[in-house]
Amino acid sequence: MGLLISPSVLNADLSRLADEVARVEATADWIHLDVMDNHFVPNLTFGLLVVESLIGKTSLPADCHLMIADPDRWAPSYAEAGAGSVTFHVEAAANPRQICRDIRAAGARASAAVKPGTDISVVEDLLPYLDMILVMTVEPGFGGQSFMDAMLPKIVQAREYAKRSGTDIWVQVDGGVDAETIGRCAEAGANVFVAGSAVYRADDPALVVDELRGIAQAACSH
Ligand code: DX5
Ligand code: ZN
Repeated sequence: MGLLISPSVLNADLSRLADEVARVEATADWIHLDVMDNHFVPNLTFGLLVVESLIGKTSLPADCHLMIADPDRWAPSYAEAGAGSVTFHVEAAANPRQICRDIRAAGARASAAVKPGTDISVVEDLLPYLDMILVMTVEPGFGGQSFMDAMLPKIVQAREYAKRSGTDIWVQVDGGVDAETIGRCAEAGANVFVAGSAVYRADDPALVVDELRGIAQAACSH
């Protein structure tokens, strides 16, 4: 299973979104798009129309992280718009199995996220319907927060579930991922790494993406 870096544009210059995505295109594997609705989280970013227009302007597959209420209604639309992966929060979902089925039917990878206070065991029943588990390592809503080491056992457990499923379920980590923390995430079993401020606060975001991948690979190879 490859290690994938998915830079988050949350801390990029959102007035120049397509240009900011282009800055990481050479080295990133995915582009992580944080959709926030001011209900599920106390912050507001962008929605379907912006995601849809961005998808047409980059070669990177869109990794949509929906921090929104009522994902049952909205998640499939992001898949229909051409996202490669759509993540919804289990805390907001009424019928998570159906959401996964709808996302897959529209041609995207289906993914479920858990907030720091949510037990990882909630995804166990969902495993046959999932392509990725997202373990949040900060409270969702804002970039630039500190990585919560207490979430590492959840990453270990998510990887255990992924192995047990016998299918190719990815384990993504999001929040406070940088050169100092990414090795621990990789050792714990994550294989998809979201990094926002670590990438976009750097002078050369594309270089940081490569550096992060190198550190993660080194952490996995012993
Ligand atoms: C936070 C978002 C993250 C955020 C990560 O709710 O889900 O994707 O952009 O930013 P950093 O890497 O700065 O913690
Ligand atoms: Zn995110």
